[in-house]
Amino acid sequence: MKVLVIGGGAREHALCRSLSLDPAVSALYCAPGNAGIADVATLRPVDALDGAAVATLATELAADLVVVGPEAPLVAGVADAVRAAGIPVFGPSAEAAQLEGSKAFAKDVMAAAGVPTARSYVCTTPEEVDAALDAFGAPYVVKDDGLAAGKGVVVTEDLAAARAHALGCDRVVIEEYLDGPEVSLFAITDGVTVVPLQPAQDFKRALDGDQGPNTGGMGAYSPLPWADPKLVDEVMELVLQPTVDELRRRGTPFSGLLYAGLAITSRGTRVIEFNARFGDPETQVVLARLRTPLAGVLLNAANGTLDALPPLVWCEDAAVTVVIASHNYPETPRTGDPIEGLLEVAAEDEPDAYVLHAGTRREGDAIVSAGGRVLSVTATGSDLAQAREKAYKAVARIRLDGSQHRTDIAAKAAGHS
Ligand code: AMP
Ligand code: GLY
Repeated sequence: MKVLVIGGGAREHALCRSLSLDPAVSALYCAPGNAGIADVATLRPVDALDGAAVATLATELAADLVVVGPEAPLVAGVADAVRAAGIPVFGPSAEAAQLEGSKAFAKDVMAAAGVPTARSYVCTTPEEVDAALDAFGAPYVVKDDGLAAGKGVVVTEDLAAARAHALGCDRVVIEEYLDGPEVSLFAITDGVTVVPLQPAQDFKRALDGDQGPNTGGMGAYSPLPWADPKLVDEVMELVLQPTVDELRRRGTPFSGLLYAGLAITSRGTRVIEFNARFGDPETQVVLARLRTPLAGVLLNAANGTLDALPPLVWCEDAAVTVVIASHNYPETPRTGDPIEGLLEVAAEDEPDAYVLHAGTRREGDAIVSAGGRVLSVTATGSDLAQAREKAYKAVARIRLDGSQHRTDIAAKAAGHS
């Protein structure tokens, strides 16, 4: 099977790494990719947002499957263009991707499907904003309606800051604050059948102790030793299947990866957000634990034959990933700094710990930073404590001027018995 992956972050590196280990994959391409993905896939240049260009590339490569990684191409209709060219694609249509592309649309689907989520108002005027902020009180949760790479959400006790963020958005969703730990649960679906993956936890804030601004995600781990073993079944029944059924009922079936971002509150599990693609960095830890070869799973989803898929096989190991980000991320990240220590990790730590590239590019013999999140250092171990230790040992070998990472990824969960 020839597979083309669209995107170029650590999530795509994790996808390509798993696909490269799958004996069914005879050729693996990634467009545009990054300096690390080049080790496991053949890179091709492409404008990932240009559906016609992606479809042409997939046709040229005679791809049997195209996997669209990031949200922006999905919302732009890239999966539709590839599907129209007759090539199976893993990723939802533009219409179904509105589940991520518009927070207001997601709220509407959840209301229709009876999916538990925070109460909310969609506001377009300063008067509506003030009324909504007043109705819920602090802490305030203010979300830009459109795509914002994880940075459009402000959660604050400060009314002036909440108001300022809301007034900077064209359309804004203001909602009730949800208390409790967050869980990311991914499901693979063909629009009818839903296959949940293992839950993971992401660390959204930039700094240790969940301080600082929201980011795309600074680290993740799986499994969740503290979670109720019934969590996956419960979320399947209350959230994932009803959402997939509702989108099919509307005539816009969702096929691809449905990502439920959940809060486990004292009043029950609630959806914080949906995404229409694999999460980053949770994918790094979820795929590190998946033993079933990936290509067949994604192809079954693309072809609408997930009901024929045998149950997924997971390994007992725990996985932890730690993101190394540029100086000044998430504000205005500095790029172009050389990265050193990658070969040391390859020599000393693999296969237990390895480096997945997010924002990197090759410059001559050097690999330099090219984005806010630069690397995602991933490790597996017999439990979270061991996976953590291996991940941080590898992190310590990496040298990138001005870089930052959290030191507390999975720390609390590793202490859970
Ligand atoms: P979102 O992009 O909707 O996932 O929001 C980003 C982050 O903001 C989430 O991962 C949460 O940490 C936080 N957040 C979003 N909505 C809420 C809410 N209703 N209550 C508390 N925290 C929230
Ligand atoms: N890890 C958060 C996201 O992928 O949106």
